Amino acid sequence: MSANFRHFKVIDKVQESSVITSFYFKPDDQDPLWSAVPGQYLTLQVPVADGSVLKTYSLSHDVSRTDCYRITVKRESAPLNQTDIPNGVGSCWLHDQVEVGDSIEIAEPRGSFVLNETRKRPVVLLSGGVGQTPLLAMLHNLVNTPRDVLYLHACEDGDVHAMQSEVSELAEKGQGRIRSHVVYRQPTEKDKQSKTFDDEGLIDKALLKSLLPIDDCDVYLCGPTPFMEAMYLLLVDLGVPKKSIAYEFFGTGSPLESLVSDPEKPITSSTAGSKAPQSIANLKFITNPDAWAISEQDNANIVHMNSQSNSADVGGVVHFSRSGLTRNWSRDNKSLLELAEKNGLTPEFSCRSGICNSCKHSLLKGEVEYFEEPLDPPEKNEVLLCSSRPLGDVEIDL
Ligand SMILES: Cc1cc2nc3c(=O)[nH]c(=O)nc-3n(C[C@H](O)[C@H](O)[C@H](O)COP(=O)(O)OP(=O)(O)OC[C@H]3O[C@@H](n4cnc5c(N)ncnc54)[C@H](O)[C@@H]3O)c2cc1C
Ligand code: FES
Repeated sequence: MSANFRHFKVIDKVQESSVITSFYFKPDDQDPLWSAVPGQYLTLQVPVADGSVLKTYSLSHDVSRTDCYRITVKRESAPLNQTDIPNGVGSCWLHDQVEVGDSIEIAEPRGSFVLNETRKRPVVLLSGGVGQTPLLAMLHNLVNTPRDVLYLHACEDGDVHAMQSEVSELAEKGQGRIRSHVVYRQPTEKDKQSKTFDDEGLIDKALLKSLLPIDDCDVYLCGPTPFMEAMYLLLVDLGVPKKSIAYEFFGTGSPLESLVSDPEKPITSSTAGSKAPQSIANLKFITNPDAWAISEQDNANIVHMNSQSNSADVGGVVHFSRSGLTRNWSRDNKSLLELAEKNGLTPEFSCRSGICNSCKHSLLKGEVEYFEEPLDPPEKNEVLLCSSRPLGDVEIDL
């Protein structure tokens, strides 16, 4: 087992809807749980024929709990009647094979799509489908604060709708501060009779406008990529500043800001690089690198991940040798990856959080520090661009 993983026992498995199930984990050792911030995710080792693959699942519980973690997973089966396509590796393993009492290797919570707990203004938690999981962890936290919250959730129908009673209980605890609004794309007759939803169809501009808080708000967005693109455009259209929208993709996606700067531009996504282990070569995920939720100051939230020094203040010159590009490091950049991208370079990446090694390059001169601890630390003469900053002058083979 890699040093970064610990063995956890599955202590409960709870079906939340026809396609979504929660798993509760407790460490096998006597050590306390790693601490987590609402919005972060766990990395699980999923056994496959020739070893294991890594899959990431957001923590969906109240992360102040010290007894166990919970993840909530949608079963990603192959499309109907397509027998040549395999079922989803990680989600179907969890749903079909993992049972209470089983042991799973899990790495420390990570991720920068986290609730900014220093803010006071209203919060909108906007989710589609299983994208509600990190937002649910945020809702658990927000219920104990004076902030107003809109929990706006869209899904297909009551059959797939998960965690509804949990959200209702939290809303009740909020004593009027927490509004939950549920939109079913295609409610069934049963849904209509039991009135388990508030609106029908898609979330459109009029609906969103009628629900958004009047005051400035912070928006957290997570769901299927087309849903996120549509919601992002509507939010910006309604005047929500881009910097107030933090988002996370569970799958393929490009930074949503590019939709707004050039709406005609086709949506493309960077592919997982050749340096990514085969096992995760198809895994693509992006956390909005520019969202305020992960600004320098806010990173202080993720205390256990931060290194002691802060090179954002150190400065230094970054030389990308193959491109012949030299730039001064400035505190506006979150990472070396971001500096490269801002200057027109297109290094490969996938996870943007130190898990997949897609962004690994040779470090020809100088030193870097990691603000996100790499899951599989690179050699001293290598660097993961996505999660590092320079300590003084550096030269990188890019
Ligand atoms: C930060 C983060 C947090 C996440 N949190 C959650 C969470 O809380 N809950 C959750 O449910 N998910 C979450 N995800 C998504 C999760 O990590 C997995 O991506 C998801 O479970 C699918 O993985 P899988 O191994 O089951 O499917 P994969 O094996 O990756 O397959 C995905 C789909 O593709 C289909 N497929 C496979 N091969 C082919 C092929 N050749 N052609 C066409 N289709 C094919 C499969 O049938 C399946 O439907 C998160 C992702 C990220 C990045
Ligand atoms: S992009 Fe995955 S480690 Fe950097």
